[in-house]
Amino acid sequence: MKKGTLVMGRMLKCLGLIMVALVLVLGAGGEADAKKKKKKYKLTDEETAMFDKWQVKPKKRQKTVKDLRKKPKFVGAIKCNGSCHDPYYQAWTKSPHGGTFELLKAGVRKEAKVRVKLDPEKDYTTTPLCLRCHTTGYKQRGGFKPAGTKSKKGKDKSSKIDPDEPNLEQVGCEMCHSVAGGSQFRAVMKSSKGDFTKTETEKYGQRWDYANVCTRCHTHPNTPFLPSVHDKYKFNYEERKLKVHKIADFWSEDNADQKLEKVDDRAKQQGQTEKTPLIIEDFQIKDGKLKFKKGTKPYNSKKKTFNYKKG
Ligand code: HEC
Ligand code: HEC
Ligand code: HEC
Repeated sequence: MKKGTLVMGRMLKCLGLIMVALVLVLGAGGEADAKKKKKKYKLTDEETAMFDKWQVKPKKRQKTVKDLRKKPKFVGAIKCNGSCHDPYYQAWTKSPHGGTFELLKAGVRKEAKVRVKLDPEKDYTTTPLCLRCHTTGYKQRGGFKPAGTKSKKGKDKSSKIDPDEPNLEQVGCEMCHSVAGGSQFRAVMKSSKGDFTKTETEKYGQRWDYANVCTRCHTHPNTPFLPSVHDKYKFNYEERKLKVHKIADFWSEDNADQKLEKVDDRAKQQGQTEKTPLIIEDFQIKDGKLKFKKGTKPYNSKKKTFNYKKG
């Protein structure tokens, strides 16, 4: 080999190393800067128009838009309690949906279990099939994690259960009002006067097709408690909905300011999801694990599009 080429080769190697070092130094510096400086969000025209209409306070707009743009994530019913929907939460804890986890324990509702050939003495609190319909967001972002759930490093990741404060382990608000209602639209609810229409909230993932949403569990082909088993499992939406929020007895001086001013107006409106309901996730148990079937999610968080039922 000629001496000239050798020198050239060494020079190139050196240059290469310098470049790598430069990228590392500059790259790391850039990251540190980004951490120091809070990210500024530029509101789209549509967001600005919506925030104006909802009277979102200027100071709260950055935080609100940040949360609003996040990927949907289950947050649990407790987040709805404490300052906004206390009577709804309190009534829910005493309602059928606030106690669904209990039913999975051994010895509970023996007769009903025997009728559908389930083992009345078995503990079903970690059985994937049951968890889909008796808890909130099982196998989805932020959702319920049963006992024994561990991280890759072996750390306990199971959801904490506090008998005094029902939360993700029950069928919570988000199982009917959509996950976006809890994690994203909550940001708007907290920072505005609640003056929004159904259609406006739907743009951000809230859904109003209640009668449809009930079929996620009631009368769903995967529930052992089908109407064909017993008449009491027949599902009449108009009758049943009266038992979902028995809030009347839960109003007090302390929470009187939480009364929803626009609730009657909204009841008269018809949202897009009521005209054309969103699809309901299809799921199956494969190798003992809960799997959602591809393409059956109501909301595509990447494309920000909705999947409506056909026909
Ligand atoms: C597809 C959803 C779904 C799945 C899966 C499911 N359940 Fe349920 N379960 C329901 C619904 C809905 C009800 C309420 C039915 C009603 O009252 O009309 C219910 C009711 C019950 C009841 C009370 C029945 C009664 O008559 O008192 C028990 C107990 C129960 N489920 C246990 C289980 C167990 C254990 C599993 C798993 C082996 C399971 N469920 C799986 C949706 C489901
Ligand atoms: C089993 C399904 C279900 C669950 C769980 C549920 N809701 Fe609802 N929610 C409904 C239905 C259905 C309505 C409409 C009631 C009606 O039309 O009378 C409603 C109405 C509401 C409204 C009034 C909406 C409006 O502005 O018109 C609020 C607020 C609300 N729910 C909050 C909550 C909170 C908070 C929780 C949890 C603590 C919760 N819900 C749990 C089904 C559910
Ligand atoms: C995520 C699953 C799920 C969804 C969604 C759901 N439910 Fe339920 N529901 C249950 C389970 C589980 C029970 C059993 C509770 C029990 O028997 O104690 C139940 C029980 C009930 C009961 C009590 C039955 C009784 O008479 O004792 C009513 C009423 C009811 N649901 C109404 C609704 C309505 C209305 C909707 C839709 C707006 C709905 N549910 C959506 C899971 C669900």
